[in-house]
Amino acid sequence: MGVRSEQVSRSIATMAHTAPLQSPRRRLMVGCGVAAAWGASAGAWAGEALTIRFSHVVAPDTPKGLAVERFRQLVQQRTGGRIQVAVYPDGQLYGDHDEMQALQLGAVEMLAPSLSKFGRIGFPEFELFDLPYFFPDMASVQQVTQGPLGQRMLDRLARQRLVGLGFMDNGFKHMSANRPLLEPAHFAGLRMRVQASRVIASHMRALGARPVTLSFSETKRALSTGVVDGTENPISNFWTQGMHQVQTDLSLTHHGYLGYAVVANQRFWSGMGAADRALVGQALREALAHGNQIAQLENDKALAELRSAGQTRIHGPSTRQAEQMRLAAEPVHAELAKRIGAHWLVDVRDAFTSA
Ligand code: LMR
Repeated sequence: MGVRSEQVSRSIATMAHTAPLQSPRRRLMVGCGVAAAWGASAGAWAGEALTIRFSHVVAPDTPKGLAVERFRQLVQQRTGGRIQVAVYPDGQLYGDHDEMQALQLGAVEMLAPSLSKFGRIGFPEFELFDLPYFFPDMASVQQVTQGPLGQRMLDRLARQRLVGLGFMDNGFKHMSANRPLLEPAHFAGLRMRVQASRVIASHMRALGARPVTLSFSETKRALSTGVVDGTENPISNFWTQGMHQVQTDLSLTHHGYLGYAVVANQRFWSGMGAADRALVGQALREALAHGNQIAQLENDKALAELRSAGQTRIHGPSTRQAEQMRLAAEPVHAELAKRIGAHWLVDVRDAFTSA
């Protein structure tokens, strides 16, 4: 290993272990310096030591946390530790507000933001995945994400200097508050925390609630202090964040999908050297397949744990209530079709109905 790349590699590794102590702004500045340094030596990395910083915002024992951990292990095993994946869960390095910028600047190498978070960086078609009652089940989602249309969406990310490496499932979302949320009338006047997705905000408005965009890491506190009254998430996130400690009721509305795209900094990815890129890419594909296999189980496990903790009233809508919820969401589909072009909705629906 050349002295220069050894220093760069070391400085990345050192930063990876000290970064959580720095302010986000400082971290971004330091990250840019490091990015500029390794950018200059990109291509000289093949076969050399490397630390890939992978930041995400959820707990380690979630579908995403477990898939990323599997990726870390596979890379570690197959390179004998020459390539390390330093995983930063729980938003400890970067949160929703700054992780995308950190990636683009090279302050981290990989992320797995929810698909809902790509709209605001110029990819509103990713908000298709947020449409309420659009996908009937996980198999339909996978027909899209694991097929040519999903690949086309990932390829478009290059416009923002991102390499889209694959999709990862969490599951279907449910509503929580300190009351049941089973029909539109139950949402009247509630402030509901949402991710930064216009589709999700519009859905809350269609239900009569007021959407409040907050980062994931702020959500539990905002619920506990009454800044917001409720939220939506798959149960694995609800449980591992301890949201049941601050919300009395969970309504199993199954109203929309939550999943992720794994993205890498383009300069890092193309500078890695063909053999390492193939190895890391293969490890990621296997980790994603594993994550997608266990996602439903993890959500089922979280529901079982929630039930046995006994702190939460768990409700299911009646057929009439489910129909009311579905009808209330219809304008949200028309609104997105107008914004991104109806062909997107047609293509996605075709991808899962023609399967
Ligand atoms: C949220 O912000 O609610 C989720 O996107 C968090 C996550 O990454 O699962």
